[in-house]
Amino acid sequence: MKTFKIAIAGGGSTYTPGIAKALMLKREEFPVSEIRLYDINEERQNQVALITEKVVNEFDSNVKIAATTDPEKAFSGADFIFAQLRVGGNVMREKDEKIPFSHGIVGQETCGPGGMAYGLRTITPMIELCDFAEQYAPSAWIINYSNPAAIVAEALRKMRPNAQILNICDMPIGMMLRMAEILGCEKDEIEVDYFGLNHFGWFTDVYVKGESRMKELREYMSEHGLVTPEQSKDLQHSDADWIKAHRNVAKMLQLFPQYLPSSYLQYYLIPQTVVDQTDPAYTRANRVMDNREKNLFDSIKHLEQTGEFMEGFNVGVHGTFIVDVAMSLAFDRRERFLLIVENNGAIPNLPADAMVEIPAYVTSRGPEPIRMESIELFYKGLIEQQLASEKLLVEAALEGSYQKALQAFSLNKTFPSAEVAKTVLDELIEANKDYWPALA
Ligand code: G6P
Ligand code: MN
Repeated sequence: MKTFKIAIAGGGSTYTPGIAKALMLKREEFPVSEIRLYDINEERQNQVALITEKVVNEFDSNVKIAATTDPEKAFSGADFIFAQLRVGGNVMREKDEKIPFSHGIVGQETCGPGGMAYGLRTITPMIELCDFAEQYAPSAWIINYSNPAAIVAEALRKMRPNAQILNICDMPIGMMLRMAEILGCEKDEIEVDYFGLNHFGWFTDVYVKGESRMKELREYMSEHGLVTPEQSKDLQHSDADWIKAHRNVAKMLQLFPQYLPSSYLQYYLIPQTVVDQTDPAYTRANRVMDNREKNLFDSIKHLEQTGEFMEGFNVGVHGTFIVDVAMSLAFDRRERFLLIVENNGAIPNLPADAMVEIPAYVTSRGPEPIRMESIELFYKGLIEQQLASEKLLVEAALEGSYQKALQAFSLNKTFPSAEVAKTVLDELIEANKDYWPALA
């Protein structure tokens, strides 16, 4: 049986040990001979490699773990490149969140001005990653989690149209797991219809064994949102901040009961509620640094000092989903997933060149998107506004255009006025001067 070599770009991520464990849990179907971590932050990655090696060796001591800052070593001969870059780390995430909040605007990792700031940092490194892949592993698939996924996908569609890359997000899977728990079934028994952009989409139907359970879910979620009756197995999205987001789904459903919204739509549909619920001095980045990051590095320290392994991380939907997608590509399994793909008529009344998030079958040749009906004007209007904002942002980055960046910010529904958009943009330019392309 063929064995696979997996490279993880963003090897120093807190998610890396979980991905490695997810690979090990599937090793009988999907045997891996090497996992290579690649990062520009050598010190951090070496730490994460320690615990990753320990996790993997608990399952199989023959799997080789390497950590390198050399792209040639990382990618040569790799079958898959899992990408999860966080350009600027959580330190810059904190700025993306806090600068907008200080002006009363939603500050978020991937949505609104924070997401656009992160996008302007990430486009160039992702183009570089595609070029490394082409040079050192031309037949590899890049499976990309790097955020903001919608903006990254659009930039790569334009700049590297031939790259063998599949852009994915674990949020729909987390939401589907919760829906299954609400309905009292297994996640794998659920099939969904869904449309939108990444972090900007709606479930239009949810089936269990072919039967729509939409009515039941809508009733439950209008009251409780996506807060499950018991502790969810979706541990990755279960802390107090996430519970707040899941509850806000109820607020959105009370306004628009037709479809089940992604929790990320809260930043666009009820931004003031989100602002009111947030402490602008202690944002999500702080929570992540004080919890997920600290727990992992505490367990690494413990491992170094005592040789003892305490987990300090979880596999989560982030780990399992990327492995499932890789297996569908590797073995032509044609599994149906929600993926970020070029529209090309799948949603007939949205532009062909939009990167949309929709169901697709994953074959060994890549995704085969599923065509659906035209969407109603309300959703079309919201999506086209957001899409225009994302496309202008990408153009701003590629052309170095301040005017287009300002247009992108002003079009984004998180802003009440172009004047506020300008104020926040100007502060973000200052904060990102080591990362952004120059905007003139
Ligand atoms: C979900 C999204 C990711 C995002 C993450 C943030 O999983 O799909 O795109 O990065 O949430 O979670 P965090 O715990 O870091 O706030
Ligand atoms: Mn996501």
